[in-house]
Amino acid sequence: MTQHDRLLIIDFGSQVTQLIARRLRELNVYCEIHPYNRVTDSFLSGFAPKAVILSGGPDSVTREGSPRAPEALWSLGVPVLGICYGQQTMMQQLGGLVEHGHGTAEFGRAFVTPTSDSLPILDGWFDEGREQVWMSHGDHVSRIAPGFTVYGTSPNAPFAITADVSRNFYAVQFHPEVHHTPKGAKLYENFVKLAGFKGDWTMGAYRAEAIAKIRAQVGDAKVICGLSGGVDSSVAAVLIHEAIGDQLTCVFVDHGLLRLGEAEQVVAMFRDHYNMPLIHADESELFLGALEGVSDPEVKRKTIGRLFIDVFQKHATAVGGATFLAQGTLYPDVIESVSFSGGPSVTIKSHHNVGGLPEKMGLKLVEPLRELFKDEVRALGRELGLPASFIGRHPFPGPGLAIRCPGEITAEKLDLLRRADAVYIDQIRKHGLYDEIWQAFAAILPMKTVGVMGDGRTYDYALALRAVTSVDGMTADYYPFSHDFLGETMTRIINEVKGINRVFYDVTSKPPGTIELE
Ligand code: XMP
Repeated sequence: MTQHDRLLIIDFGSQVTQLIARRLRELNVYCEIHPYNRVTDSFLSGFAPKAVILSGGPDSVTREGSPRAPEALWSLGVPVLGICYGQQTMMQQLGGLVEHGHGTAEFGRAFVTPTSDSLPILDGWFDEGREQVWMSHGDHVSRIAPGFTVYGTSPNAPFAITADVSRNFYAVQFHPEVHHTPKGAKLYENFVKLAGFKGDWTMGAYRAEAIAKIRAQVGDAKVICGLSGGVDSSVAAVLIHEAIGDQLTCVFVDHGLLRLGEAEQVVAMFRDHYNMPLIHADESELFLGALEGVSDPEVKRKTIGRLFIDVFQKHATAVGGATFLAQGTLYPDVIESVSFSGGPSVTIKSHHNVGGLPEKMGLKLVEPLRELFKDEVRALGRELGLPASFIGRHPFPGPGLAIRCPGEITAEKLDLLRRADAVYIDQIRKHGLYDEIWQAFAAILPMKTVGVMGDGRTYDYALALRAVTSVDGMTADYYPFSHDFLGETMTRIINEVKGINRVFYDVTSKPPGTIELE
C-alpha cells in the first residue's frame, strides 16, 4: 500500500470518471477510483482518504434506490467535492432537493458567472467575468442543503457551484475533468491544495516504493517475465530487475513475425545494456511451419496464441523453480467498473494474462504497474533510463506481421514486408511525424500487379501503407499525409525494395475498418 496522501474517488458510473483520476495524477496526487457500492463506512475508514471526490453518473438521484455516498463520509472531517451526480446526491443527502426535468436539462457548453466572492477552489477562475464549463445533466438541484452558499450560476443551473466552507464540502454541477471545461484542472489544483496534498506522487518516489514492494513480495524467489519488446512489459522487467537482479529471467519469444532488426534490438537492449538474464527463444521455424498454408486470420491468431503459450511455458519451466510471473497490467485494466444492469456486479479485465498460464503453472503474479496509467508507465520508463525512442514506440500486435500479410504467409513476403515497413517508418521519422501518429505500418497485399521499370515489365507485389490517429485504438482516423510525402515514400519503397512495384495508401477509418488489415 502506498505511503502517500490518498484521495478517494467514489465512482457513480460516469463515462469520464477516469479523467478525474488523470487530472489528479497530473497534479502529483495519489488517488484511487472505487465503485460507490464498494465504499462502505468501514472501507472509508480503512482507506483513510485526505479528500474525497464524488463522480458523476447516469442514474437519477430522484429514483428510489439510486446510488448514495456512504453516510460516514459527512462526518469524516475531510474535504469533499461532488461533481454532477455527486453534487446532486450530496445535496439530497444533506437536506437539499433535487428535481427531475422541468426543461432544465443541460448538455454541452455553458457559461458560469460568479454570485459571491472568493471561494478558495475558484482561485483564478472568474478573471474574465464568466467561465466556460461542460454540463451534462437531466436533473437539477432546486434547493441547496442547509449551510451551503451559491458561488456560481449558469442559465439552467442556478446552483452550478455551491459550497459549505465550514464543513469543507464543495459541489459543482458541471464536469471540471473534461477538456471542454478549460479551467477544470485549476479547480482540481485548488481543491487538492486546500486539502493539504503535498504533490508527492512522482515517478521517482514511485520507483523507490515499487522496488521495496517487489522485494517484500518476492523475497528470494525466482520470477519469470514474458518480454515482448512493448512498453509495458519492458518497463515492468526493468523495474523488477532493479529490485531483485538476477532472480528475474525474461523470456522473449521470437515467433519469426517481428519487424526488421526487432529481435536483435530487444535482445541487445535487455541482455547487453541492462545485463538482464534473457532467454531469446528463436522459435520462428516452429511458428512459420505451423502457419504454412494458413490464410484465415482467425486461424492465424489461434495458431500463434496456442504456440506462444506452449513455447513460453517450455522456456519458463527450463528456468527452474520460478514461483512468480511478472505482468505489465495497468491501472485501467484493474479499475472495477460500476454496473447498472445487474446490481453491484463488477467487471475486472484481466489483461496480458498469458492464456491462464499463472494458474496452469501454479505461479503467483507480480504486477508492479497496477497503479499506473499508460502515460505514467512511459514516465516511469524515462525515470528508469529506457531510451525515449523505445518508450514512444507505436503499438505492435501480438501476432506481429502475420496479420499484416493477408492471405498465406511466405518467407519471401515477410522479407519484402520487413524491408518496406522499415523504409516507411524511416520516412515518417525523417519527416518528424512519428509522434503525431498513433500507429503506422505497411502490409503486403495478396496480389501482384504489372509495372514498368526502366525498359522492362515487372510483375510484383503491391503494398498498403497505413497510418492512423487514435486515442485508444478503439476508433481511428487515417493520418492526412501530404501528397509530397506519399510520393516520396512510394519512390523510396519501390527503388529500395525490389519485388514491390505498387504502393497504396489506406484511407479507411475505424469504424468501418479496423486498424490492422486482418
Ligand atoms: P484493430 O485492428 O482491431 O486493432 O483495429 C486495434 C489495436 O489492437 C492491435 N491488435 C492486436 N494486438 N493481438 C494484439 O496483441 C491481436 O491479435 C491484435 N489485433 C489487433 C492493433 O495493432 C491496434 O493497435
